[in-house]
Amino acid sequence: MRDRLKQIQELAVSELNQADKKEILEEIRLKYLGKKGELTQVLRGMGALSAEERPVVGQLANEVRAEIEKILEEKTSAIAKAEYAEKLKAETIDVTIPGSKQLKGSLHPLELVKTELTEILRSMGFSVVEGPDVELDYYNFEALNIPKGHPARDTQDTFYVDDDVVLRTQTSGLQIRVMENSKPPIRIVAPGMVYRSDTADATHSPVFHQMEGLVVDKGVTMADLKGTLAEICKLLYGKESKIRFRPHHFPFTEPSAEVDVSCFVCGGKGCRVCKGEGWIEILGAGMVHPKVLETCGIDPEVYSGFAFGIGLERVAMRKYDIDDIRLFYENDVRFLKQF
Ligand code: DAH
Repeated sequence: MRDRLKQIQELAVSELNQADKKEILEEIRLKYLGKKGELTQVLRGMGALSAEERPVVGQLANEVRAEIEKILEEKTSAIAKAEYAEKLKAETIDVTIPGSKQLKGSLHPLELVKTELTEILRSMGFSVVEGPDVELDYYNFEALNIPKGHPARDTQDTFYVDDDVVLRTQTSGLQIRVMENSKPPIRIVAPGMVYRSDTADATHSPVFHQMEGLVVDKGVTMADLKGTLAEICKLLYGKESKIRFRPHHFPFTEPSAEVDVSCFVCGGKGCRVCKGEGWIEILGAGMVHPKVLETCGIDPEVYSGFAFGIGLERVAMRKYDIDDIRLFYENDVRFLKQF
């Protein structure tokens, strides 16, 4: 019986020493110390021993149990420690690994210019309106004093949807939509995309952006137009900038003008940007034609107004020194990330 106890101890200890998982330790515990375990079996057989042998074997059995329990405990805590170390290792953050770069978006240059202009106009009391890109011929042409067959239609190569519907060639049609639906005083600005069947090149695109301005009230004069545009240019290009009017013709304004701003690169001396002229054309404008007011049910004897239309690409190209209009629409990140 003593030999059997010694053997159990040796076996248990050697198995415990090889164990590397909590589950295995538990299996070993059950195998030797459990209710049906080997040591328990041996102890059950003690009844057959003589009175002298019983305490001796009993003590030995207790020693064997104590030894197995001690090693079991040591192994349990060693394995727990190892597992914890393993877990820490797996969860370690390597602070030397380079981070993944988060790309930051930015506003498109046309959006920047549009926002800047609308903010300037808003500060002057204008409100922003929008209208449909697919527009009735009536709003895009007829009501703007450009009837069918009028030569001014030729200057705006039009995408016709059908005889009465076009892709708007200008934002000027919004003047009509606003005047039809509201009474003076009117002070609006209307940004939007416009479409012309032009072949794309460095300065032309079949889609581009305009911004329309309209003011209608009693006693509005050309001086108000000039003052407003001069103020806009100062805010957009700096205090030193000046504007000049050149006579022009638009069917929906009378008189009409093309407006130049003094070159904001050379200040008017002449340089590459203004092509030596000292002035840069920025918009078309004029006094709303009495016929247009009448068409919208506004009495031209009582009210007068001015209007202007700005090409946003032009403003952005000058502002950021961009030499090809197509860059705005290609969405090349190398271009876009410069703004
Ligand atoms: N709609 C004109 C164009 O596309 C620009 C324009 C000129 C707008 C004179 C106006 C204006 O409001 O008064 O060429």
